[in-house]
Amino acid sequence: MQNQPLLTSKKVFLAVVIGCISLGVINAYAADVNAGADSFDANCAECHSIAKPLKNKKGPGLLGVVGRQSAANAGFDYSDAMKAANLTWTEDKLDAYITNPKAVVPNDKMKFKGLANAAERADLIAFLAQQK
Ligand code: HEC
Repeated sequence: MQNQPLLTSKKVFLAVVIGCISLGVINAYAADVNAGADSFDANCAECHSIAKPLKNKKGPGLLGVVGRQSAANAGFDYSDAMKAANLTWTEDKLDAYITNPKAVVPNDKMKFKGLANAAERADLIAFLAQQK
């Protein structure tokens, strides 16, 4: 009889630990994309839309940009530098471009100084990857 309450509290303890771990995992995943959406609104939305169908603002529409060829949006007037860049916007290329646009496409016309925070860029790219 002495062991019974002890076992029960061990089970409760384990359930709480497992619950916290799984909740943590789910929250971490959702927070990435949500944080990315916030970062997009704060840093990119002034010039870029993710609306469907593709819509240009000061910058080209970014719907489906992950995996897309650079300067592929026929309705947008890209700089000569971007037209000549001939890149595929993989997640790595996007990461480098968002870190320091001029280092990846010198003389491009995107007036954006870059995002220094690697975690913020990862969240933002995770968000962009979902915009299809
Ligand atoms: C002040 C306006 C402005 C801001 C802010 C801005 N961009 Fe841009 N972006 C542009 C312009 C203009 C271009 C076209 C560049 C060119 O043709 O040289 C561009 C081009 C791009 C391209 C290339 C698209 C293609 O079709 O090849 C990507 C990717 C991109 N921007 C991502 C972003 C992201 C992500 C952010 C936010 C972190 C951002 N930009 C912030 C104006 C902006």
